[in-house]
Amino acid sequence: MPIIARENKLFALQTQETSYILAISEEGIVENLYWGKKIERLEDFAGVSSKNATVNMQGPQLFREECSSFGGMCFKEASMKVTFPGNVRDFRYQVKDCIVEKEKLELVLEDRFYPFAVHLYYEVFPEENIIKKWRKAENLGDEPVVLERFYSGEFGLPGEGYESINYKGRWGAEFMEYSEPAESGKKVYESLYGLTAHTVNPVFLVHRHADETQGDVYYGALEYSGNFKCVVEAVNSGWLNVLLGISDTDFQWTLKKGQCFEAPAVYAGYSDRGFEKMSHTMHRFCRKHLMPKELAEKPLPVLYNSWYSTTFDVQCEEQKKLAQKAAEMGIELFVIDDGWFEGREDDKAGLGDWYADSSKFPNGLQELSEEVHRLGMKFGVWIEPEMVNPNSRLFREHPDWIYAYPTREVLMGRNQYELNMSDPQVVDYLIQVFDDLLSQTQIEYIKWDMNRYAAEIGTPLSAEESWKELHYRNTQGIYRLIRTLRERHPQVEFEACASGGGRVDFGAMRYFDEYWLSDNTDPLDRLFMQEAYSRMYPAKYMRAWLTDDFGMDHRKVPLNFWLHSAMCGALGIGVDLNRVPEQKRKEIGKYIETYKEIRKTVQFGDLYRLSSLKDSDIEAVWYLKETEGVLFAFLDHERYGNAQYFIRLRGLSENQLYRIEADGEVCEKTGAFLMNRGLEVRMTGDYDSKLICVKAV
Ligand code: DGJ
Repeated sequence: MPIIARENKLFALQTQETSYILAISEEGIVENLYWGKKIERLEDFAGVSSKNATVNMQGPQLFREECSSFGGMCFKEASMKVTFPGNVRDFRYQVKDCIVEKEKLELVLEDRFYPFAVHLYYEVFPEENIIKKWRKAENLGDEPVVLERFYSGEFGLPGEGYESINYKGRWGAEFMEYSEPAESGKKVYESLYGLTAHTVNPVFLVHRHADETQGDVYYGALEYSGNFKCVVEAVNSGWLNVLLGISDTDFQWTLKKGQCFEAPAVYAGYSDRGFEKMSHTMHRFCRKHLMPKELAEKPLPVLYNSWYSTTFDVQCEEQKKLAQKAAEMGIELFVIDDGWFEGREDDKAGLGDWYADSSKFPNGLQELSEEVHRLGMKFGVWIEPEMVNPNSRLFREHPDWIYAYPTREVLMGRNQYELNMSDPQVVDYLIQVFDDLLSQTQIEYIKWDMNRYAAEIGTPLSAEESWKELHYRNTQGIYRLIRTLRERHPQVEFEACASGGGRVDFGAMRYFDEYWLSDNTDPLDRLFMQEAYSRMYPAKYMRAWLTDDFGMDHRKVPLNFWLHSAMCGALGIGVDLNRVPEQKRKEIGKYIETYKEIRKTVQFGDLYRLSSLKDSDIEAVWYLKETEGVLFAFLDHERYGNAQYFIRLRGLSENQLYRIEADGEVCEKTGAFLMNRGLEVRMTGDYDSKLICVKAV
């Protein structure tokens, strides 16, 4: 049984390897007694409390609560803040109901005075070792109640000495990971950009002395793509509180009579064996429960995207030539990026007018689509649905559909405005436009971009009390658009992008099949980004391309290194095929052939970060799916003449014999040899790399 309830006082959320134990304390508080490696015997928890009775502090600071509320004696960051009629600003509850149903638990917390309840929901995924937490506020009375903060999950971790990991970044430099002690005060990771953004990520990752294979790691990810906040607070009575949810900055939600507000879910887990186990757990969970079902079990096709070849200068004939060459190389999906629609000569016009530019496509998009299909590939296009250029027909017809303050000049980002996606008529219009596009032309793939941050989220369209609801409503509008398009066009593959990595989160993963991690395709920079990204997010969800050297880092990197780096995810090609000599195209074609042979292992296998350039001479990434494995090894520059590296594999069976194929040479070794003595890999010079295939004999 994944959930065991004892006298409606103790609740054990049991996965195969972990326990999450809740109790209702004598004071009536829902507290967390334990989270960690599985403890089967619940009698052990008799008389156990989360309260630190030895510390001379006030109430809520002493308990590891599941739903702390601002007000009263709560002086730490609380998980919610509510204002009742008469400006009463705390929530004092009693547990009114406990409902256990298979893998789900609901605790109903009712205010002792006001007709208002908070429902705490839990779901257990026993095989995946993940628990899902979310909550709902409900106004049971007639008078309005105002929520000013309503995070999704609160996690109290006992003891001290934790470190907290998150990411910083910007365009072209996503997922710059850093770890810092969480010994005092609060660490706040927050996005106010209107979406997840490049600067931080909606996850928590807290550990004690962990590395890849050892140490305690507590982690969680928020299923949401808008403004969020993660607070990690060392509470002075000797424990760590972790909160994750919608940001409370510029957020307010008024619940009128009978209304509810449901916060997005957090998926959380515990690893007793470092980051590697955490990644395996999260990656498997994403593939099985989060990613859209239509493609979750199918390998992603190798794509060609013409952005870096032609940028905005898209011409039907030129694209046909690219398509011809792409098909000859074994590419399976041909994509035109930005620049195909009406008036799009550069980034100053066109967004909003989602029909083919007649000067570029005199016979419409269908001509190119037919040619691409004739060549045996699928066809895809780029769109940026949430945006509009002032120079577009859409804006001229509906100037009031954007976010704007009536008394201010509207701010622009990349020469564009943001459509008010909180307005149902705007979303309905976009549904129609893209439904038509997908119905009228044979399109099997969409790259959905988003290239400006939100500003001036306030609009005369909405009632005063709902202004601070707009960020949330905007995100829901985006979800409705993609959800409806997916329902109507289940055969279409959707890739998310927000100037590269601005929307990597579990909310987007619910609707998109893959993600464009960064516009920076430099293969060495990418190795660092990919390593950090892979902590929580699976390789199956990550696109990576070979492109021409476009000068992001002004270094010359050989094809081998670049392609191997891109083969660590879902491979794409972005080089200008019309300029590349035939010989080189053939060479790239051979890599594509190899990738097709190994992609199931890369996209569906367990990922092991065997060695990192952050603290050693080489990067080694190992993917293992049942009896087959693929190892990528990278040397950025040779050091002191050292050319020999021993890479110890993980996850194999000791007594099994494996066939190893590298550089056309084959040998056989046991799992014991490969995991203990290790594979000997020779790499020299600058930017050397190896791809080694391992298969059980
Ligand atoms: C930003 C994206 O990150 C790029 O990949 C490309 O699609 C451009 N937008 C097109 O404008």
